Amino acid sequence: MTNTQIRITPLLPELRTWATELITEHWVSPMIMSRFVWFDTRELPGFVAYYQDQPAGLATYIIMDGECELITLDSLVENKGVGSALLNAVADVSRGANCRRMFLTTANDNLRALQFYQKRNMRIVAVHKGAIDAARNAEKDIPLLGYHDIPMRDELELELQF
Ligand SMILES: CC(C)(COP(=O)(O)OP(=O)(O)OC[C@H]1O[C@@H](n2cnc3c(N)ncnc32)[C@H](O)[C@@H]1OP(=O)(O)O)[C@@H](O)C(=O)NCCC(=O)NCCS
Repeated sequence: MTNTQIRITPLLPELRTWATELITEHWVSPMIMSRFVWFDTRELPGFVAYYQDQPAGLATYIIMDGECELITLDSLVENKGVGSALLNAVADVSRGANCRRMFLTTANDNLRALQFYQKRNMRIVAVHKGAIDAARNAEKDIPLLGYHDIPMRDELELELQF
């Protein structure tokens, strides 16, 4: 079913500042560590979701070595299909680039994201033990406690194989 209130566009230069502010607000810094590797989201391609013609979500990703890693996914208007539309856009670009898989990591406390991705056919394929602790060693503002007051320590890797 198509959702006519949502429009997806590539992340264009005029929305770069907006994107960097959004990522910094949600994830402490535009530098994101995943699997002990740092990514500078200011240099990554992405997609913006518009809901009722307002920017309402952002995905950033990287395609490397025949795989696509989703680095950030943020919805500003939840439960309207924005996150799904962005995830689909990244999956489509991955398939178009002949990637073997699209994958991501999420913190162990992020039960909402774990539900969201698994309901969209993504499988948990690895645990990166201590990955959040490692990121916090470099970026002290990453909190100790996350959603539901769960200590944030590890990353779970989820993938969708093509
Ligand atoms: C996880 C996240 C990206 C989901 O985004 P979202 O925009 O709420 O996602 P959607 O609206 O597509 O789907 C969420 C739910 O809304 C429901 N929904 C979608 N469109 C809907 C509509 N038009 N009307 C009613 N419900 C709808 C979906 O069924 C879905 O439920 P489900 O996950 O139980 O299947 C969002 O919660 C978020 O940004 N979280 C904070 C950042 C984060 O954790 N990012 C992931 C880190 S890796």
